[in-house]
Amino acid sequence: MENEKRSSFTGKLGFVMAAAGSAVGLGNIWRFPYLAAQYGGGIFLLVYLILAITFGFTLMIAEIAIGRKTGLSAIGAFRKLDKRYSFIGYLGAVVPMIILPYYSVIGGWVTKYLYVFSTGGMAQAAQPDFFTNFIGASAESVGWFFLFIAATSLIVMCGVEKGIEKVSKIMMPILIVLSIGIAIYSLTMPGAMAGFAYYITPNFDNFSVKTVLAAMGQLFYSMSLAMGIMITYGSYMKKDVNLESSVSQIEFFDTGIAFIAGMMIVPAVFSFSATHPEAAQKGAGLMFETLPQVFKTMAFGDFIGAAFFLMVLFAALTSSISLMETVVSIVCDKLKLKRIPACLVVFGAALLLGLPSALGSNLWKDVVFLGKMDFLTFFDFISNSVIMPIVALLTCIFIGYVLKPKAIIEEVESSGTFKRKKMFEIMIKYIAPVFIVLILVFSVLSELGYLQV
Ligand code: PHE
Repeated sequence: MENEKRSSFTGKLGFVMAAAGSAVGLGNIWRFPYLAAQYGGGIFLLVYLILAITFGFTLMIAEIAIGRKTGLSAIGAFRKLDKRYSFIGYLGAVVPMIILPYYSVIGGWVTKYLYVFSTGGMAQAAQPDFFTNFIGASAESVGWFFLFIAATSLIVMCGVEKGIEKVSKIMMPILIVLSIGIAIYSLTMPGAMAGFAYYITPNFDNFSVKTVLAAMGQLFYSMSLAMGIMITYGSYMKKDVNLESSVSQIEFFDTGIAFIAGMMIVPAVFSFSATHPEAAQKGAGLMFETLPQVFKTMAFGDFIGAAFFLMVLFAALTSSISLMETVVSIVCDKLKLKRIPACLVVFGAALLLGLPSALGSNLWKDVVFLGKMDFLTFFDFISNSVIMPIVALLTCIFIGYVLKPKAIIEEVESSGTFKRKKMFEIMIKYIAPVFIVLILVFSVLSELGYLQV
């Protein structure tokens, strides 16, 4: 595509909606609320916010600027800046290829739940083993996975402007309205206010170094950093769009939706269990097992449940299209393929790679990695806890010491002011690399069970 005119977002709104669409995803909805509940409520929120406007801001603006400066996706971008460092681009490109398949498996589960809730199946979905039975019934979960990834591919096939931008401009506003509506409804449930207070009141007893590291790990994933996505989207950004304010808006969106998701889930679960927010299980269990039971106790529960899963579906779709676009854009750039054939290649590859995760617990229950993980958990661990921090670290070192921060600053200033310039420079050279090494060590040790979290 280097010779063809590169596609682009029509303007700032399109860019911000698409990038925020990538950032706002399953991570905001199920992961953020339970982390906040677990790590001291208000104090976690505060730490997260501070990290978002310093650390998250630095990495995000750096990636978008690299993309816009070079006009290329991750691999080409690093090569153009300095040939010796194209391996960082390759490493970053591996991440979306690993995440896309299993993210789409979860996307398929969300689609199934939307279907069940909108066809009057709430009572069934609230049964204790509904979820385990569903993911164990391999053919069915493969079918939903296929549907989700096919929808993602169709949108990406339509292109940056007519596919991604258009869809994001429709889905993101609906997502905001639905999440605010559900949050308000959830706050009116009996006992919900106590849950809300728990969610926002700082609890210093639960504060530790781990709070900071957990917030940092979440930030990375939540802002879709260190996997070439923001480089790719930056390469579609027009030269006159203000970079600093775009990044601020994306951050605001991402953090705002995460906060609202907590408002929707923590009080509802609190009110449901009437005992303690610990009832909020981690991960998949919270969204697919606890929440259906909570909806069942609500008036208009099937309606609220359907609205909730529609919202989650939009969040997941706009994220999966950013993953797919990143891979497609690399395939276009490297293999000089046109968009549609490139999409078909990536669709086929993702389908194959996703099968082991979609076939779920039954077929593969004896295949474990590192002595304890199933396929889906393993892919999640390798990409989020290992490769992403390494890519982020290399990116910081590359920008801080090889390319020099000045190159990024010039790109940002070519389209407006750069108020957080000084902070950017200090963060990228000194603070971010140290923190990233800490996240890497922390997440690997805790995942492998050497550290109690
Ligand atoms: N940022 C998304 C979220 O919060 C997750 C994601 C990761 C999306 C990787 C795309 C790529 O859920």
